[in-house]
Amino acid sequence: MENTFTAMMIEDVDGKPKAGFRTISLSDLPDHSVLVEVAYSTLNYKDGLAITGKGRIARRMPMVAGIDLAGTVIESGSDDWKPGDKVIVNGWGLSETEWGAYSRYQRVKPEWLIRQPEGLSQKDAMAIGTAGYTAALCVEALERWGSIKPGEGDVLVTGAAGGVGSVAISLLANKGYRVTAATGRPETHDYLKSLGATAFVDRAELAEKGKPLQKEIWSGAVDAVGSTTLANVLAQTVYGGAVAACGLAGGADLPATVMPHILRSVALIGVDSVMAPREKRQSAWTLLEKHLDKVHIDTLTMAVEPMSKLPELAEAIIAGKIRGRVVIDMSA
Ligand SMILES: NC(=O)c1ccc[n+]([C@@H]2O[C@H](COP(=O)([O-])OP(=O)(O)OC[C@H]3O[C@@H](n4cnc5c(N)ncnc54)[C@H](OP(=O)(O)O)[C@@H]3O)[C@@H](O)[C@H]2O)c1
Repeated sequence: MENTFTAMMIEDVDGKPKAGFRTISLSDLPDHSVLVEVAYSTLNYKDGLAITGKGRIARRMPMVAGIDLAGTVIESGSDDWKPGDKVIVNGWGLSETEWGAYSRYQRVKPEWLIRQPEGLSQKDAMAIGTAGYTAALCVEALERWGSIKPGEGDVLVTGAAGGVGSVAISLLANKGYRVTAATGRPETHDYLKSLGATAFVDRAELAEKGKPLQKEIWSGAVDAVGSTTLANVLAQTVYGGAVAACGLAGGADLPATVMPHILRSVALIGVDSVMAPREKRQSAWTLLEKHLDKVHIDTLTMAVEPMSKLPELAEAIIAGKIRGRVVIDMSA
């Protein structure tokens, strides 16, 4: 084990969060009972916000950034985990209130760990990461609501070429749903078709303010965009349908009316990945293991990059230039 290693830290500089690489040692890590050697992490929209300083993600500083890790247990003070176990952590306040994944070693709480599914490698798990696991939570939320049926009706995915969108399309298509992708990048149509999308909507159409009730089109939708897009999707959802909303890539506001809810019984289901209870996480990862096509994991992995590339990758994800997912190789 190396004595010192590099971590991507967020520090307070003149009252503003600033990211930079720092050399730290095991004695600097938090006091949690499981020590993990991090093999891979990934880049999520939230990581982009934290690293660029465009969002206040770290709620105390200094903070190690990175919300996702896949690694191997090195030491454990918990009966539930032993050295050699392959594990995943998503969320639980990593990079916000708890030191996160962009560090070769990290100490974590035993209750945050999920056993790596047998059918997925560490790299696969991070190609999925929080974005993919959130997509799975959204699909499960829609299925629990009961308005979507394989082969019947249309399911919309917004922010389609991003991380959440790409995985949602692949999962839904694999389960037999007919999927329409809303994207602002026509050059990604072939990519999205290869994941299973069969029709497209230009995201600009959904970004314009629309009527409170519009033509009923979607049996269900996964929305990663928020704002006017979400308002229009709700207004286009069929009687009794549901929208699983998880993101704010287009804005945190929601300029909508109650009309779709009170006249069409449309449900707006909020999806949070960070503090999702253990059973929901386990179930989402089982869904990913069973229904995320292995070929699609490779297709949606735009790149595997070393940690040193994080600053430029963070700018790229905030600018909407990342397609699918980027995996961070923590050993490089
Ligand atoms: N609730 C949770 O627990 C949770 C978990 C994970 C992610 N999220 C949120 O979900 C959202 C997506 O995350 P991600 O990792 O998939 O991010 P991402 O890879 O950056 O994808 C976001 C996608 O949204 C679309 N988009 C970007 N800017 C837009 C704009 N101004 N108007 C309309 N569409 C826009 C783009 O899709 P096209 O290029 O196809 O148009 C982009 O690829 C983020 O807001 C993230 O914070 C929430």
